[in-house]
Parts: sequence; structure tokens; C-alpha cells
Amino acid sequence: MLMKALLLYSSHDGQTQSIASGIANEIQGTVKFDIRDLSQVDKVNLTDYQAVMIGASIRYGHFNSALNRFINQHIDQLNEMPSAFFSVNLTARKPEKRTSHTNAYTRKFLVKTPWKPTLCGVFAGALRYPRYRWFDRVMIQLIMRMTGGETDSSKEYEYTDWEQVKHFAQEFAHLKPQNGSMSTE
Ligand SMILES: Cc1cc2nc3c(=O)[nH]c(=O)nc-3n(C[C@H](O)[C@H](O)[C@H](O)COP(=O)(O)O)c2cc1C
Repeated sequence: MLMKALLLYSSHDGQTQSIASGIANEIQGTVKFDIRDLSQVDKVNLTDYQAVMIGASIRYGHFNSALNRFINQHIDQLNEMPSAFFSVNLTARKPEKRTSHTNAYTRKFLVKTPWKPTLCGVFAGALRYPRYRWFDRVMIQLIMRMTGGETDSSKEYEYTDWEQVKHFAQEFAHLKPQNGSMSTE
């Protein structure tokens, strides 16, 4: 029987949403996802689902505040069901910064949040200079220059490792309906 799960994403420029869709496609034979925008979910009843996944991107060092708001509203249920979290950022374009221990945004989030996701992943996002407004383009270019990244602002770069995304999806599909140990992807 298909597992029914909720997949919430917080995405500013669409990459986290694409990753959410990629995850859902990869395991559509095992998990039936309701995919929703985290900042637009109003009332959601987690007891309607057997598992939940939340994905969020980083902008200027922070996740969207809707992430912590949702967690605080649903913390008891979140910690009682199989759950997964994934973060999306550009620091993770460097493979050694792509685990929940080595990715500073993800590590700090996990230390602070009362949520204990069963599974946690970190994915590299995309750098799409031409789509950003002037201020963001200049700021990101500056950060990229400082960290040895791509600086050609006429180009778009996608760093997401889609094989890693598929692997994460398969791990989620195999979560047992009780709390397991946390895996670091
Ligand atoms: C304005 C802006 C600020 C960003 N700030 C950060 C940052 O502080 N650290 C980081 O690692 N990535 C940063 N990123 C990269 C995003 O996390 C990356 O582009 C990701 O793919 C965005 O996902 P989304 O399209 O789902 O929002 C930033 C991107 C933009 C456009």
C-alpha cells in the first residue's frame, strides 16, 4: 500500500521546489506525497499523514521564518512520526559541506530546533544570476568571489547532485513508522 506523506517546501527561486518534485517523482511507487508551499500552508492536520518531509533554502544566512513557525506549531506530532528535513544552499556546492554536520546552516538549525527529524539531507542549490534583482546579484557575486565560486553574472549554474537527491528519496521511502536514528546525507 502507498504511504501517504506531506512534503512542505520553502523556496524563493524554485530550486527547493524542484528538489521536492524530484523526490516525489523518484518514490512515487512507494509514497504518495501532498506537496505544499510551507509559507502558504494554513491549517494542516499531520494525523492525515504517515510521514512528513520539509525542505527549505537559505537566503542571506537564514531559512524562511515560516520553517520555525511551522515546527513550533506542530512539534509534538512532528517528533512522533517519521520525518525528514533537507536544506538547500550554495555552501553545499562544495561536497565536503554537504552533510548535516559539515554544513553550518544545517548544523546550527538542528542544534536549535526542538524537532528531531529521522532523516536529514543537505543539497547544493542553484546560482541563477540573470534572474536576480540587481542588489541580490551584486551581493551573491561578492560572496562567490570571496569563496572561490562562479562570478560570471550572465550565466546560470545548477550544483544540485540529482543522484544524491534520489538516494535521499529512497532512504525516506524506507523509513519505518516509528522514530529511527538520524541519517546524515
Ligand atoms: C539573495 C540570495 C541570498 C542567498 N544567500 C545564501 C547564503 O547566505 N548562503 C548560501 O549558502 N546560499 C545562499 N544563497 C543561495 C541559495 O540558497 C540557492 O540559490 C538556492 O538554490 C535557493 O533555493 P530556492 O530557489 O529554493 O530558494 C542565496 C541566494 C540568493 C538569491
